[in-house]
Amino acid sequence: MSPVIQNAAFRSTRIKAVYIPFCVNKSDLRRSIDALRALGIRGFNVTAPHKVEVCRYLDKLDRLAKEIGSVNTVAANGKLFCGYNTDGIGALRTLEEAGAQLDGSSVLLLGAGGASRALAYSFASNARTIRIVNRTVLKARQLQHRLQKRFKLDITVASLAGESIKQFVEDADIIVNATSMGQNGRFDPPIRKNWFHQGQFVLDLVYRPVETVLLKVARSAGATAVNGLRMLVNQGACSFEIWTSRSAPVAVMHKAARQEGPM
Ligand code: ATR
Repeated sequence: MSPVIQNAAFRSTRIKAVYIPFCVNKSDLRRSIDALRALGIRGFNVTAPHKVEVCRYLDKLDRLAKEIGSVNTVAANGKLFCGYNTDGIGALRTLEEAGAQLDGSSVLLLGAGGASRALAYSFASNARTIRIVNRTVLKARQLQHRLQKRFKLDITVASLAGESIKQFVEDADIIVNATSMGQNGRFDPPIRKNWFHQGQFVLDLVYRPVETVLLKVARSAGATAVNGLRMLVNQGACSFEIWTSRSAPVAVMHKAARQEGPM
C-alpha cells in the first residue's frame, strides 16, 4: 500500500520521485542498506521484521528513534543515512482523528515488537496506564523496563496466553493490535466480544484485510473501530514530510489508499 500512497503524493506535489517496494531477507539487511547508499537513494521506509535491526546500519538516529530503538523512516543527508520513527505520531494522529481522548487514558498494547515500542513511547507522554501483552512475555518486560526508566506511569505486562487479558481489555480506553495477528483473516488470541464496550477505541495496525476480525468484533460490541490503513497514511505523511521538507498532501494520500481498499 505504501507505494500507492507515496506515489500519489509525489504526483500531486510534482516531486520527481518514485517509491518502490523491495523484499529484503534478514541476512541481506546490511548489504541492502549499503546498496541503497551506493545508489544515492534519498529516503526509504523500513518495515517488519527489520525496524529494530536496521538501527545498527544507519549513520545517525534522531532523538526519538534512538530512544525507541526502532526506525521506520530513513532520510539521506548526502551519503549519511538518518533514521526516524513516525509510527507513534501516526498512531496518535489516527486515534485523535477518530475522536479518542489520549490524556489520562488507559492503553492496552498487543505486541512488543518495533511498532509497539514506537507506540508505547508515544502513548507514555499522555496515558495514565499502559498494559503490554505479548506472545513472548520477556520482550514485553524489556519494553516495560525501557519505558519505566524514562516515564513515571503505571506499566503492566502479561503473556498473550495469560488470564489477565480479559481484565486488560475490559479496563482499556484504547486497544491497539501491533502484532501481525489477523493478517491471515483470522484472529486467534482469546479475546471475547463481550469484553469490549462502548467508549473504547480499537486500532488494528493490520490493514490487510482493512476490516480485521478484531475490528469487526470490537465494533459489534459498540467500540469505535479504527483501521490500520488510516494509520499507514498518517505515518506515511510524516515520512513524506521528513524526505521532502514539504507538507504532505494528506487528503490525496487517503484517497489513494481508499481506492485500493475501503477505509
Ligand atoms: P513490527 O515492526 O511490525 O512490530 P516485529 O518487531 O517483528 O514487527 O514484531 C511483531 C510482533 O507481532 C511481536 O510482538 C510478535 O510477538 P513475539 O514478540 O512473541 O514474536 C507478534 N507476533 C507475530 N506473530 C505472532 C503470532 N502468530 N501470534 C502472536 N503474536 C505474534
